[in-house]
Amino acid sequence: WFALKWLWRLTYLSAIAGTGWVAYGIYESRHPADQADPDPNKKTLVILGTGWGSVSLLKKLDTENYNVVIISPRNYFLFTPLLPSCTTGTIEHRSIMEPVRNFLRHKKAAVTFYEAEATKIDYEKKIVYINDESDVKGATSSNEVPFDMLVVGVGAENATFGIPGVRENACFLKEVNDAQQIRKRIMDCCETSTFKDQSLEEIKRLLHMVVVGGGPTGVEFAGELQDFFSNDLKKWIPDIKENFHVTLVEALPNVLPMFSKQLIEYTEKTFKEETITIRTKTTVKNVTDKYIEAESTGPDGKKVLEKIPYGLLVWATGNALRPVVKDLMSQIPAQKDSRRGLAVNEYLVVKGTESIWAVGDCAIANYAPTAQVAAQEGAFLARLFNHMARTEEIETELKHLSHVQEVAPSKEKRDEAFAQIKDLQRRLRRVKRMGPFEYSHQGSLAYIGSEKAVADISWLTGNFATGGTLTYFFWRSAYLSMCFSTRNRILVIVDWVKAKMFGRDVSRE
Ligand code: FAD
Ligand code: NAI
Repeated sequence: WFALKWLWRLTYLSAIAGTGWVAYGIYESRHPADQADPDPNKKTLVILGTGWGSVSLLKKLDTENYNVVIISPRNYFLFTPLLPSCTTGTIEHRSIMEPVRNFLRHKKAAVTFYEAEATKIDYEKKIVYINDESDVKGATSSNEVPFDMLVVGVGAENATFGIPGVRENACFLKEVNDAQQIRKRIMDCCETSTFKDQSLEEIKRLLHMVVVGGGPTGVEFAGELQDFFSNDLKKWIPDIKENFHVTLVEALPNVLPMFSKQLIEYTEKTFKEETITIRTKTTVKNVTDKYIEAESTGPDGKKVLEKIPYGLLVWATGNALRPVVKDLMSQIPAQKDSRRGLAVNEYLVVKGTESIWAVGDCAIANYAPTAQVAAQEGAFLARLFNHMARTEEIETELKHLSHVQEVAPSKEKRDEAFAQIKDLQRRLRRVKRMGPFEYSHQGSLAYIGSEKAVADISWLTGNFATGGTLTYFFWRSAYLSMCFSTRNRILVIVDWVKAKMFGRDVSRE
């Protein structure tokens, strides 16, 4: 009884503390302290992009040390791990977006933001050329931004390997508008398939949802789509029940190549139960508006070319270089052998340059192109830049103290300056001791549908592989805790509860 009483008190106190914490989070986000203006006398640090790498750098950067300028066509950060859930309305897209202006208001010194695309980086002249790509354009829509230091964090674009018809006919899954387009297309296919006197062949085509690429993006989307069908679509539109089908096409012998063998098998088994068809060893060669042409390799090694009709085609075959990155690489001789991105050294400096750093998917540092890597790289650069600013500050102070020591009128004053110099030199040695970037892998997680997830987690000395419903709850809590802000967390929870209580919204827009 005594223990129960204490347990009750503890729960009660935790609830009060939790509410206080959330309330403080909300208050603080609404009323940040006043900011110092940007100081043009300081070095100009230009950051390209507002994705995982750049935003994680901004979060930890002491902006009062530099004149910081951010350039990105997106005035928000996007929490990509939950983007597949937006394609079916499990989560509303605005719940995983955080406006850049929101978090810039919380920096000590003001930061300049230009909503624009960097079209070219002139390495020699130290200039970034920018273009306003938005629908509303002012009298000036292109300009130049000079930099002393530049961080390239522009991510990657969708790889199509030059396969004909992909760009014209397929949907991608990288940005918010991609998810919106997919959501609309799913509903379009379902509603059109029930149009009066539609032929069976056409119904089957319209309700065939094809996903190309068995990496985590393709697998997570296929799982979400099958959930949408099983939990909502087939109840709201019973006519589509017999013909709705999801197929995942993968060129390699298995899906999720980066996961352990047992989790690959578990995923394939779960997909089978969910009635998702997996077509491995099948490479798409051509895409038209109604079918894909794919070459599959049979068990006897024979290759067969077949046409697979589709209503929705989602293309998720990984990353390719952005033109601005390709162009920068062509200006730097040390980058001539690099194919997949900007080669960087262990301090993330772009090889062959002195004042350009790269983070995330556009940088090649021997790690997979994931949010985890990009975020750690961004945080590392913030520490590095804070250290660099501190070093400069101490060196200037040292110069001044040496002068004071030289001209000091008395021995007492000279000794005082000497003691201060010794102290500063000690601090300088400590600051300069910063080691190179080291990635710490926390593990890989993926949702596979029907409230199941797979996880390869790095645990103390080894790896721990797990899959199932418990892992799904772990997946949910891990991603919830990683959301950008308290606001995002609350919105995501509300969306999950809403989808559970009322079902997903099946309206087309
Ligand atoms: P991004 O986050 O893509 O950001 C790039 C930024 O640059 C954007 O703001 C963009 O607007 C901007 N930009 C683009 N072009 C220009 C230009 N010319 N000039 C200026 N700015 C420009 N990783 C995980 O670790 N775990 C996951 O669960 C996971 N899930 C994912 C789910 C999906 C659907 C997708 C697509 C990816 C997922 N990833 C996941 C991978 C992860 O999102 C990327 O590795 C990560 O976003 C890379 O960060 P980044 O900063 O390099 O690029
Ligand atoms: P990916 O590169 O991981 O997988 C693409 C797949 O497409 C490959 O398996 C490839 O064999 C296949 N493919 C390529 N061309 C093909 C063709 N013509 N026909 C059929 N199959 C073809 O790409 P993805 O999934 O977009 O992921 C990109 C990055 O983002 C990866 O590094 C991934 O780890 C990360 N990511 C991580 C997630 C997670 O951890 N949950 C979720 C989503 C992405």
